[in-house]
Amino acid sequence: MRHESVCVFTILVWTGGFHYLGYTTMKFLIVLVAVALAANALSDREQWDEFKLKHGKSYRNLAEETRRFAIFQDNLRVIEQHNAKYERGETSFARGVNRFTDMTKEEIKKLLNRKPSPKTGNTMTAAMINATVADSLDWRAQGAVATVKDQGDCGSCWAFAAVGAMESAYYMKNGQLVQFSEQQLIDCTTSYGTVGCDGGFMQGGFEYAHDNGISTEDAYPYAAKDQSCQSTTVFLTISSFVQIEQNEDTIKSVVGTVGPVGVAIYADDIVSYSSGVYDNPSCPNSSEELDHEVLLVGYGSENGQDYWLIKNSWGTNWGESGYIKLARNSNMCGIAQDSAYPVL
Ligand SMILES: *[C@@H]1O[C@H](CO)[C@@H](O)[C@H](O)[C@H]1NC(C)=O
Ligand SMILES: *[C@@H]1O[C@H](CO)[C@@H](O)[C@H](O)[C@H]1NC(C)=O
Repeated sequence: MRHESVCVFTILVWTGGFHYLGYTTMKFLIVLVAVALAANALSDREQWDEFKLKHGKSYRNLAEETRRFAIFQDNLRVIEQHNAKYERGETSFARGVNRFTDMTKEEIKKLLNRKPSPKTGNTMTAAMINATVADSLDWRAQGAVATVKDQGDCGSCWAFAAVGAMESAYYMKNGQLVQFSEQQLIDCTTSYGTVGCDGGFMQGGFEYAHDNGISTEDAYPYAAKDQSCQSTTVFLTISSFVQIEQNEDTIKSVVGTVGPVGVAIYADDIVSYSSGVYDNPSCPNSSEELDHEVLLVGYGSENGQDYWLIKNSWGTNWGESGYIKLARNSNMCGIAQDSAYPVL
């Protein structure tokens, strides 16, 4: 409320100086400007209140809340401008308010913590590389994908990608969905080169699950923070992992024959994605810039545009119920550079 009152007061003082304009004109101007400002401010404020409620946001003091509201408004303007283009049919995806909308680019970057993998997987079999597969595929429809999880305020995307791939691989082999433990990978894989909430790579998780096995989510629940490695009951041990060729046709063949696979992307700009096929030619695509890991669970095309169907680990309030469709066949956000799957 404070902001609006201050603005209206300023206008009254300012218009007061133009007394020669005539009373009616002046009054009209005041009302017009005040209404325009109030409508604008109210709508931001309403969206802010809704945002805080929906995402359970609270701030430690008024100064912090004021700062967050300003960041929120900046992000809101970017979202509105983009969505105006979307309304005009100039882009194939929409952006929206989500729990990241009160965060700066720098803060978001800190959550995106994929590190390049020093681990090398097994090579692929020729049969897989050129397999003929369906034109579109959604492994969720087969029941092969566990529910969308939320990594929270911890840079553990890589553990979610590794676990997601193992959950699906376990389903493909046993016809049963069991949720595995991201926290175990966060806590126990430092000797494999990962750094918990400060980042890692799915291949470290695969190697750990090969050497030590992985337990269930229930046995070793998610804490969204670094802990010391706890002893637990192992549920699954994998035999190896395969690193996929850097080629989207090959990745499609593998997803079509093997099932969901873990994949690295550059994610800074998808943070405000809400729906549609994300297609942004300026999204960085080099191996060096990949900073997020997710699970590829299918592919298809929408309005003539080919896409990859991807499960993220930012909860179900993000994107299309936790998923994003990323443009396919153009190495969008570097999706072809680093993908892998576990072999049970
Ligand atoms: C896959 O097909 C392409 C083109 O048809 C061919 O050049 C390539 O050798 C094949 N790769 C394998 C591993 O069979
Ligand atoms: C990366 O994107 C640029 C610009 O769109 C493109 O010219 C380049 O071919 C892409 N590189 C790869 C490896 O896909």
